[in-house]
Amino acid sequence: MQSELLNPLAESSRIEKMPDPCTMVIFGASGDLTKRKLIPAIFDLARQGVLPSGFTIVGAGRTAMSHEVFREYMFKALKEFGRFQESEKALWETFVRGLFYVTIDPGKPEEYAKLKKELEVINEARRAGENVLFYLSTPPGMYSPIIKGLSGAAMNKPGGQNAWVRIIIEKPFGVDLNSARQLNREVLSVFDEEQVYRIDHYLGKETVQNLLVFRFANGIFEPIWNRNYIDHIQITAAETVGVENRGGYYEHAGAMRDMIQNHMLQLLALTAMEPPVLFDAQQVRDEKQKVFQAIRSIRPDEVHEYSVRGQYAAGTVNGASVLAYKSERGVSTESVTETYVALKLQIDNWRWAGVPFYVRSGKRLPKRVTEIAIQFKKTPHHLFRHLPADSLDHNNIVIRVQPDEGISLKFSSKIPGSFMRMRPVTMDFRYGSSFGGHLTDAYTRLILDCMLGDATLYARGDSVDVAWQLITPVHEGWISNKNSKIHDYTSGTWGPKEADELLARDGRRWRLP
Ligand code: BG6
Repeated sequence: MQSELLNPLAESSRIEKMPDPCTMVIFGASGDLTKRKLIPAIFDLARQGVLPSGFTIVGAGRTAMSHEVFREYMFKALKEFGRFQESEKALWETFVRGLFYVTIDPGKPEEYAKLKKELEVINEARRAGENVLFYLSTPPGMYSPIIKGLSGAAMNKPGGQNAWVRIIIEKPFGVDLNSARQLNREVLSVFDEEQVYRIDHYLGKETVQNLLVFRFANGIFEPIWNRNYIDHIQITAAETVGVENRGGYYEHAGAMRDMIQNHMLQLLALTAMEPPVLFDAQQVRDEKQKVFQAIRSIRPDEVHEYSVRGQYAAGTVNGASVLAYKSERGVSTESVTETYVALKLQIDNWRWAGVPFYVRSGKRLPKRVTEIAIQFKKTPHHLFRHLPADSLDHNNIVIRVQPDEGISLKFSSKIPGSFMRMRPVTMDFRYGSSFGGHLTDAYTRLILDCMLGDATLYARGDSVDVAWQLITPVHEGWISNKNSKIHDYTSGTWGPKEADELLARDGRRWRLP
């Protein structure tokens, strides 16, 4: 085996820094995430010519597999999920020489010595260097045994002087405050915080990163980005899919743990944070942390005022009949797991006092769309009095996270003609038309960042903790507060009517994305 540059273009690549040579060990390599996301993302890095010389992937897992079988399995995955083109055959041939598989039972501490030995042999042959990146893509129940196993075999600390060991941990990071704290303690008893990368793939989405550019690289938005001009903010993540084949996991998670505790709160923090002094991991994450700390907690006895939860019933989505959540595989027929959540959150700080953030996420809604809508206040004086009030819409800025990525600004305009009539129009930026091509997948960006040692777009331990501090009392209230109920909604609709009432009580309504 030869150490090799995965793509000759690498040397002329325009990224500011190339990652150090390293080996990436994926626990849970036979699982869904590896084939749908990780391998396509890493191959995309090869495509972009940014993988270091000798880069090696070692899949590790209980499923017994030879290197060859693993390679074939990954190739199939790439063809299915990775935009693979026949013209990339040669690139694959080089890439595949760096793919290996080690069968181990990660639950057995004694097996880590074997893993260590095999890694040494592979690294020696590949000249992949001493840097190691562990990726935990297993069910969360395995995190603790793996962390202990790595520490037991002294694989948590780098072998060489300038070498590094890093670990990426997938969500869910705990199921409540206690379990998240316990996991954080375990991780930090073995790794330093700088070695730990808690992934939230929403932070790697192009449009989410662009939110920071939009706010802080333009002078015109920041002066109006506050309670003086903004009426309220709506953050929506709607999915048309149901729980698919993940019923077993989802039953214990629900929309709150699956989407709100992580992705939605991250979107909120980026929307609400103060400008950091520098664009680096500490400053950006410090500012986000201040937002999390300023979110007013919802007490168990008030959950019915500030939260709505729902569960999808049978219905029609995109023209096809779909089952009720309770009829999905792996789901109890008595289930009270929520597939929809709407929250009214308030941020108690100078910038946002009195500006509600309405956040909602649900499965089996009519449309797949994630967006952040900034709704501005009405004009202070109603000059065009003869016009019906509803022809004068509020101004808004909508950041379309996905699909149809872009940003639009809505304002009122005069309808051409002899009469003074008006209607809202939009100024629209679309990634597709401005930049063309494909947007890089979030995992591609995040894996590269980790190899480069940049944790800016990863969640820090303290923010995971404070997110659970916010979410856990809501869960408790859902169980203990008899005014709080779970409401059915027909699949293919925008959630339970109680979610509309949540805004109607404030004289507002949800946007139709
Ligand atoms: C995952 C959740 O984290 O995010 C899934 O576990 C959800 O339930 C998914 O479908 C949504 O991600 P995306 O990138 O498709 O919006």
